[in-house]
Amino acid sequence: MIIKTKKDIPSSEITDPQLFYQRRKIIKAMLASAVAGSTISSAFAGETGWKNVPKTELSIDKLTATPIELVKNYTNYYEFTFNKEDSTHLAQALQIDPWSIEITGEVETPMTLHLDDLLSQQALEEFIYRFRCVEGWSMVVPWVGFPLASLLKRVKPLSSAKFVKFTSAYQPEVMHNAMLEWPYVEALRIDEAVHPLTILAVGMYGDSLAKQNGAPLRLVVPWKYGFKSIKAIVKIELLKRAPLTSWNKYAPEEYGFYANVNPAVSHPRWSQISERQLGSRFFTPRRETELFNGYGAEVASMYRDMNLAHFF
Ligand code: MTE
Repeated sequence: MIIKTKKDIPSSEITDPQLFYQRRKIIKAMLASAVAGSTISSAFAGETGWKNVPKTELSIDKLTATPIELVKNYTNYYEFTFNKEDSTHLAQALQIDPWSIEITGEVETPMTLHLDDLLSQQALEEFIYRFRCVEGWSMVVPWVGFPLASLLKRVKPLSSAKFVKFTSAYQPEVMHNAMLEWPYVEALRIDEAVHPLTILAVGMYGDSLAKQNGAPLRLVVPWKYGFKSIKAIVKIELLKRAPLTSWNKYAPEEYGFYANVNPAVSHPRWSQISERQLGSRFFTPRRETELFNGYGAEVASMYRDMNLAHFF
């Protein structure tokens, strides 16, 4: 692996003084979602959409959402194209109804769920998150979704489950870009997967998810580079060992398994110190990128003993 920045990050630097407070916030949010999750919600985005979905405590209130038109018209969907504008209309060819998702592997109760059944048992919330792409641009998106942990709980993971692998839909009739091996695959460590910030999104901006943004169901992991947030998920597998993931397989020296946002670890071809915020004016200065994309108080403890330059 080529690692451009050798700087070690001492744990003293990545532990935020607010950690204790944030932990309490997380525990509160976990309890809240456990309660909410026990009720059957009318989860479907009907004509009124999901405008009244309650905002989770984990949302960062001070963030201003990026204009929706930018988020919908500047997308990365490589199964269709490399072009961020063309993916908007090309992705409309994806068939998303009916949709089911298989959850299998190291679990007590493997299941295949039709999306409607899944949603009928899942309380939805709004999560306003920063989103930072490895390419150096960022946005703020109000996602509608639910914690991945609440779905994983239903299949009863075995203690042998150490990693969670996600697989995207591959519809070769409409996905013509032969650059990577499809389907697109991503993975998380089990503790990352069940972290309350990790969500499955089914909507955005109070409405359904746009196809180009990963409809009908995508992962969102706000402290990691955007390529971890896999779109159009059809399969979730709990595994004993880390699987090979699409970008890591394609260019392991450029895209690590962890992909935690980190301004101190450059991409081999560009710096990660700052980011261009989608929607900012030409003369607006770039935003300084934060370690873990600003979610350090919530997630740094998961990486306490790790050399983040090595496990990038
Ligand atoms: N998921 C699939 N299946 N295919 C992709 O090409 N691109 C990834 C990620 N998930 C991608 C994907 C990358 S590189 C990024 S930055 C984000 O999706 C972009 O999400 P957005 O297009 O909704 O902004």
